[in-house]
Amino acid sequence: MKVIIVKNYEELSRKSADLIIELVKNKPDAVLGLATGSTPLGLYKNLIAAVNTGEISFKDVKTLNLDEYVGLDGTHNQSYRYFMNENLFNSIDINIDNTFVPGGCGDNLEEICANYNFLLDTVSRDVQLLGLGGNGHIGFNEPGTPFSSTTHVVTLKPETRKANARFFNSPDEVPTEAVTMGIKNVLDAKSIILVASGTEKANAVNAMLNDEISETCPASALRLHPDVTVVIDEAAASKL
Ligand code: F6R
Repeated sequence: MKVIIVKNYEELSRKSADLIIELVKNKPDAVLGLATGSTPLGLYKNLIAAVNTGEISFKDVKTLNLDEYVGLDGTHNQSYRYFMNENLFNSIDINIDNTFVPGGCGDNLEEICANYNFLLDTVSRDVQLLGLGGNGHIGFNEPGTPFSSTTHVVTLKPETRKANARFFNSPDEVPTEAVTMGIKNVLDAKSIILVASGTEKANAVNAMLNDEISETCPASALRLHPDVTVVIDEAAASKL
């Protein structure tokens, strides 16, 4: 596992974007596993800038996102599909049909999960981008999730709903469930980049890197993967 500690969020966004820009330059039809949340926003801005200057093109790139809230369709402004369209896809030259976010709506969530697992098994990701939850979650794989898990429906922990309430009009509006890639799906990507910023992630960063590898800290599973780059700022590294 390679750990890169940078000064601040701006440098984190630059460094992590550079890793993806390099990948897309070398492999124009790369398959990228993407994440939502606040942390990758700066990274996505840098990707948009790289497309605008003609440094890279996403015209042959495919993307598969980590997760989606149950009950929010893609037009809901807090759905992760909407987030990706607004913060990346609408501003780059990607074919929207090549962008995949697990569906959070529909009568048959089990079927949605099975279809997403099939897609993940069929289309091999060159990289999976991850943020890190304050409780060590990756995707919506909360503490206690088996490392063998594949795409599944999760009940969100109160602390995760609380952390995400900042995006909703009221905490009650935060969905109680989500569909997420499982930890096995994450580990199946050829390489992984995890980004974490700020003191509120410092305990989770330390647990991920230094505690025993266990389901108590889902992100500790990344130590089982041969090609992981962790990009964190000094605040997130402050408990190391
Ligand atoms: C997002 C996701 C989550 C976030 C994590 C950190 O698709 O799966 O695991 O990466 O909750 O979120 P932020 O970046 O908002 O602190």
